[in-house]
Order: sequence, then structure tokens, then C-alpha cells
Amino acid sequence: MIADRTTKSPAPSATVDAIARFETVSDIRRGFGIDIGGSGMKAAIVDLDTGDLVSERLRIDTPQPATPEAMGKVLCELVTGHEWTGPLGVAFPAVVRHGVVGSAANIDKSWLDIDADALFTGVSGLDVHMLNDADAAGIAEMRFGVGALPDGSPRPGVVMMITFGTGIGSGLFIDGVLVPNTELGHLELDGHDAEKKASAKARDRDELSWKEWAVRAERYLRHVEALFSPDLFIIGGGISKKPDKWLPHIEIDTEILPAEMANNSGIVGAALAVEHLLV
Ligand code: BGC
Repeated sequence: MIADRTTKSPAPSATVDAIARFETVSDIRRGFGIDIGGSGMKAAIVDLDTGDLVSERLRIDTPQPATPEAMGKVLCELVTGHEWTGPLGVAFPAVVRHGVVGSAANIDKSWLDIDADALFTGVSGLDVHMLNDADAAGIAEMRFGVGALPDGSPRPGVVMMITFGTGIGSGLFIDGVLVPNTELGHLELDGHDAEKKASAKARDRDELSWKEWAVRAERYLRHVEALFSPDLFIIGGGISKKPDKWLPHIEIDTEILPAEMANNSGIVGAALAVEHLLV
């Protein structure tokens, strides 16, 4: 295309370079994702065909109290910081059904029943779509991470994304199709809400060694295994960056792989989720 243009209308080489750069950039299908966590709100522009971040990754502290209005303001800062004007996705640590927040285990209770899509769309003037954070992480892994086959298609069968962080998140995929909001971190196990005992936060709180924590994580994963008989567990959250610490201590029957995209999976999955809605 560029060769055609230069043939028809010879241009100085600097101009040709500029055209080439512009076209390369504009050929990228880009999306925008925001990952909301307890301490930070992170955002970047994403190449939807490779899962790479194609902008700086901006992070702004999550406001305290983390009310919908206060977070809406930070969302606008992240959007303007990237000069983004298209639709965008938001990964959020709660049940999110068609944009409406349905639980508040680790977030400000004022979020309950809020239509986050409507609120954020209203304050930003852009089309905003919110989804559960573990679902977003799973979407990213199934497309670009350990849940993707070499040809880029998702692993068939039952794949379970489990994230260990402040809470425990879950994303269930059946032949690559997401079953949203499974919330398996809140399974009752030995009389407790499972995430209170086996999350990464519980490891810090109870000052557990990796081996001690792995005993709890294995107990939890065996329970999920017994209920769902998955073909693969993908383990995400901050701990996925250090699999050598805990993976050797976990013995379950199901294949288990650490997630590949730990830091960026929420951002990438949120950006991808919007694309799915648009198709
Ligand atoms: C929430 C989930 C979330 C998980 C990980 C849990 O407490 O209920 O919605 O996915 O934490 O952030």
C-alpha cells in the first residue's frame, strides 16, 4: 500500500518514513483496559492481536474510601492520561452481572447494586464495560497465555483460572467459553469462607512459609477439583510470579500451570472483553 503511494507520488524519504510509521501504528487493533485492585487502579492500551501493552502502564492509588464516585474520577484521569476515546473494559474484584455489581467481599460496600457500566459511561462519556477480575484474567490467559494452544485457540475442555491475592478469584471456561462470576473463592471449606484461609493475603496475615501456605492451597484446589473435575488449573495473582516457591509443594490430580501474564492479565482481559461485546 505504501509502495503504491510512493510510486504514484514520489515523496521525500522522511515523509515516506512518517507514513510507514503511521500506518504501522494504525494497523494495530487496539483496546483499553483498566484493572481495579484494592490498592491501585492500573490502565494501558492493549494490542488486541498480541496481548502486548502498547502504551505506558499508568497506575493511580485506589482512592480511600473506594466509593463509586471517587473511583469514577480516577477512571477519568486514567482515560485522559492515555488520550483514549474508544470503548474500554474494567476488571473489578466482585460479581458483575451485565455491568451491575453484585457482591462486595473486599470492596467498599457502597458498590453493591451499582450499575457500574452506566456510572462510568456517564462520567467518562465513553462506552465502559465492567467484568469480574478473575474472569478478565482468565480471558487473557485463554487467548495469550498458558490457556492458549500454539495456534492461538483456547484449550478445550474445562479450564479453571484461580487467582490468589487479597481474595481468591475464579474464572471457569468450557471449551473456551467463559461461565462468568463463579466466585469459587467463597466456597465453604472446613467451616470457613475458603479465601479467608487460603488467599495470598491469608499467607501474609498468618505469616506462613510457602510450604505451609501450599498445604492450604492444595486443600482448596482438591476441593474445587472434586466438585468440577477440570482438565487444567491456571493459577494467577501475584504468587504466579514465583511458582518455584509453591508449585512443587502442591499435589493434585489435575494439570496445574502458573499464569503467564500476572501483572497485565486484568488490563488485557478487560480490553479483550470489550472487543467481544463489539463483535
Ligand atoms: C471476590 C471476587 C474476586 C476475588 C479476587 C473475591 O473476594 O468475591 O469477585 O474475583 O476476590 O479479587
